[in-house]
Amino acid sequence: MFKMTFIDPDGTRHEVDAPEGLSVLEVAHLRGFDLEGACEGSMACSTCHVIVDKKWYRKLEQSSEDEEDMLDLAFGLTRTSRLGCQIEITEELDGLVVALPKETRNMLLD
Ligand code: FES
Repeated sequence: MFKMTFIDPDGTRHEVDAPEGLSVLEVAHLRGFDLEGACEGSMACSTCHVIVDKKWYRKLEQSSEDEEDMLDLAFGLTRTSRLGCQIEITEELDGLVVALPKETRNMLLD
């Protein structure tokens, strides 16, 4: 079991246990955080948008073109934005820190 930290839009930090092999989106749901994930990881929305801590962003695998396309639609996009459903918890990411954005856009309801 690894650890990761979610930072609320108001800046509150929450360190939680993060089981190996789950996505950041799945960990968020498991621990009760408000990260929607409307398409359940099929890259058809951007409601799982998270902002990865700069230090950790460099350790992530390169995002795919499909992920980049979806991120372009996310509100509050930053240079370290990623889709939470595409980040898998591994040993290398033990201690990962991500912030939850203030707003998301639900493409499925637009
Ligand atoms: S849950 Fe829809 S793109 Fe991640």
